[in-house]
Amino acid sequence: MLTMQEIKNHYYFAEADAELLKELFPLAQKNSEAMVEEFYTYLLKIPETAAFLRDPKDLARLKKTHTEWFLSLFCGHYDNEYMLTLQSIGQAHVRIKVSAHYVNAAMNVVRRFLIEMLQANFPDISVRRKYRIAVEKILDINLDIMSTSYQEEELRRVFVSH
Ligand code: HEM
Repeated sequence: MLTMQEIKNHYYFAEADAELLKELFPLAQKNSEAMVEEFYTYLLKIPETAAFLRDPKDLARLKKTHTEWFLSLFCGHYDNEYMLTLQSIGQAHVRIKVSAHYVNAAMNVVRRFLIEMLQANFPDISVRRKYRIAVEKILDINLDIMSTSYQEEELRRVFVSH
């Protein structure tokens, strides 16, 4: 199993990226409500994902959960504990049987939102590029770790069926 440091090395994720993400925290916080609205508008439009979001009580709780995850992208500290949290987030989706396809597609919604947020706030292209690269790395790392839970579940099923 890889350590968080190894994963970061494979994505060329350096301390400078962590610093850049931390700098974006206040902007991300200001935009978190809009992000979560976009995320849920998206999930509610697709019958397969909307099926998980039927109960309004659950919906309010989940919006909070997904907002917290969004803000954690900008926490500035990405250690093994961060990796374990992402593994457990992946496992939560495997457990309730959200297809990996929708997790990938939802990540694309977050990515698009963040790229537009940077576009609107950093007119200088070289500054914007630095932030964009750091954002893309942490999103890819998140997806990578969450996807591992799906791959592990797949392996478990293969072993059990033999
Ligand atoms: C739970 C993040 C995509 C539905 C969670 C949790 C997090 C999270 C942090 C809390 C996990 C825990 O309790 O340990 C994400 C991220 C996604 C994503 C980062 C992709 C970018 C989706 C999609 C759906 C979904 C596509 C489909 C509707 C849910 C549900 C739960 C949940 C229903 C509650 C699970 C439970 O009750 O145990 N998600 N999520 N999520 N997510 Fe997502």
